[in-house]
Amino acid sequence: MTHPLIQSIQTRRTTQLFDATRPIDDSQIEALVSVATTAPTSFNLQNWRFIAVRTQPEKERLRALAWDQVKVTEAAVTFIVCGQLADAGVMAARLAPSVEQGFMPAAMVAGWEGAARSLYADQPQRQRDEAVRSATFGAGTLIQAAHALGLGSAPMIGFDAEAVAGAFDLAADEIPVLLLAVGHPAPGNWPQKPRRPLTDVLTLR
Ligand SMILES: Cc1cc2nc3c(=O)[nH]c(=O)nc-3n(C[C@H](O)[C@H](O)[C@H](O)COP(=O)(O)O)c2cc1C
Repeated sequence: MTHPLIQSIQTRRTTQLFDATRPIDDSQIEALVSVATTAPTSFNLQNWRFIAVRTQPEKERLRALAWDQVKVTEAAVTFIVCGQLADAGVMAARLAPSVEQGFMPAAMVAGWEGAARSLYADQPQRQRDEAVRSATFGAGTLIQAAHALGLGSAPMIGFDAEAVAGAFDLAADEIPVLLLAVGHPAPGNWPQKPRRPLTDVLTLR
C-alpha cells in the first residue's frame, strides 16, 4: 500500500530518546490535541481530557510518579491522557453541536441519551471500560498526528495511577489511562519492532 497515511502509520515507532533541547510550543500542543479529538467515541461522548505537562518542574513531578522514566522529562511534553467514566447525563450537551449544524434531528437526542443510560447506568465496569477505550483511541490518534508532524511519541503504563490522579488534580470520574511523551526525537531510536505474523492475529471466517 502506498497511500501516504498508510506509510506514515507503518513508519511510526515508539521513541525512547528525545532531544531535550527542543521544546514544542503550545500552539503545536493544541494542534495535536485538536487532531486527537477527531477520534471516535461511543455516542460521541468525548469522555476524555488531555493534561499537557510541559514545564520542567511539572515534568519532574510526573516523572517521580512514573518509575523515574527519563523520557517524561526529556520529551517536550508528556500528556496524561485521561478517560472519564461514561455518563449519559452529558449526552445532550455533547450532541448539541450536531443538532445545531442541522444533520442530527433534535428529536433523536433523547433516543441516544436513553440508549446510553441503559448501557452505562449502574454499570461501573462498563463506564470504566468506556473511559479506557475513549482515552486509548484519543492517544492512538495523537500518536499518529505527532508522527505525521515529525515528532516522536512514547505511550507509558509505567506510572502510579492513583498518585498521578491525586498530584494532577484529576476529578473523581477521571482515570489516568496512559502517559504519552511527545517531542523531537534524538538520534539512536530503534526502528519499529517486527510484528507477529498475520496468520497469528487475523481470523477470517
Ligand atoms: C499501553 C502501552 C504501555 C506502554 N508502557 C511503556 C512504558 O511504561 N515504558 C516504556 O518504555 N514503553 C512503554 N510502552 C512502549 C512499548 O514497549 C512499545 O510501544 C512497543 O515495544 C512497540 O514499539 P514500536 O511501536 O516502536 O515497535 C508502552 C506501550 C503501550 C501501547
